[in-house]
Amino acid sequence: MSPSSTPASPSVLFQNYGRADVCFASGNGVYLTDTNGKTYLDAFAGVAVSTLGHGHPALVQAISKQAATLLHCSNYYTILEQEQLAQTIVNAAFPGRVLFCNSGTEANEAAYKLVRLWGNQQHKGHKSKVIAFANGFHGRTMGALSITSNPKYREPFAPLAPCEFLPYGDRAALDAAFAQNSDIAGVFIEPIQGEGGVLMPPSGYLTYLRELCTKHEALLIMDEIQTGFGRTGRMFCHQHDQVIPDIMTMAKGLGGGVPIGAILANEQVAALFKPGMHGTTFGGNPLACSAGMAVMSELLKPGFISNVATQGERLMSALINLFGAGRVRGRGLLVGVQLDSDPGSLVTACRENGLIVGPAGNNTLRIAPPLIIRSAEIDTLVERLAKALPKGLSGNR
Ligand SMILES: Cc1ncc(COP(=O)(O)O)c(C=O)c1O
Repeated sequence: MSPSSTPASPSVLFQNYGRADVCFASGNGVYLTDTNGKTYLDAFAGVAVSTLGHGHPALVQAISKQAATLLHCSNYYTILEQEQLAQTIVNAAFPGRVLFCNSGTEANEAAYKLVRLWGNQQHKGHKSKVIAFANGFHGRTMGALSITSNPKYREPFAPLAPCEFLPYGDRAALDAAFAQNSDIAGVFIEPIQGEGGVLMPPSGYLTYLRELCTKHEALLIMDEIQTGFGRTGRMFCHQHDQVIPDIMTMAKGLGGGVPIGAILANEQVAALFKPGMHGTTFGGNPLACSAGMAVMSELLKPGFISNVATQGERLMSALINLFGAGRVRGRGLLVGVQLDSDPGSLVTACRENGLIVGPAGNNTLRIAPPLIIRSAEIDTLVERLAKALPKGLSGNR
């Protein structure tokens, strides 16, 4: 049954999302079509998820084949699709072991539990402090929320687990935190802060953090949930700086739209989870892992990720022409444009002009199209954005 343009009225859904009155019925490549037949260029990819765009034949085929073969199997048994995908991720990232789950927040929950074990077991209870960063976002479950800084998300749910937030990109603040606390067990960081406003760390900052974590025996957890799987023009964003974390958390782009999350941890850290200490029913089921393998196979094709970097540069330079260099930041196909106030009116004006973009932080427009986007589509994206500007920016700059 395809959805009709008018939802069942009145809706019985929770009201936790602020939804636009648009319903997408289908997608093809970088385009979406709504229930009224209007098409849109999708430059948001369902919040940096639809890596291969919509209806990609390799992904569709992998999912269909797996659904017809074996949809689900419990983690009490060997799952070959999991083994294959885990090995592929390790080969593309760094040596270690992979644990699968279903979402980004769950990946950070697993990483958080490893930080606790690192403090309680490896350091005999002497390390318990968790550090994260202002403007960081790690998810909505209680552990991940406790390391997410935005008071709007946190405060209604207090008390949360303790976490100390440092200013992102500030070396002196890192120095002071490690000098004042010998009990830091783990540091959670995004290599680019996506939800916070596409905020980039200064050059050399991640390397410096790695050095401090190693020196003080604190785990470095790199949250690549938004930045991973080619999004920034490398398979993983931390690879731009040649920094290897102890744990990397992943989700979003890995499944290309099929829910899947994962963590990769080095051998020493992965060994902290003994049988029975962590798990989830659906984590890494055959369907999700087949989708992940289809995405990885496309990403690993020669030229795929370098094209992300190329298209990212084309997009950035067009945006710089439009807005000025000081307002545009990001890497690859994760790009933010800083406005003077809430991006909501521009997001709406873009949508009316057939372009889907999203917000980030208080004042940033976020552009994160499918990674298959081509030059002509980048140009269409920028044209539609330029056309939306007079309406979308009225009162904004
Ligand atoms: C960096 C980062 N971490 C974690 C999450 C949470 O992921 P999920 O929404 O899949 O729980 C997000 C989602 O936007 C994210 O951007």
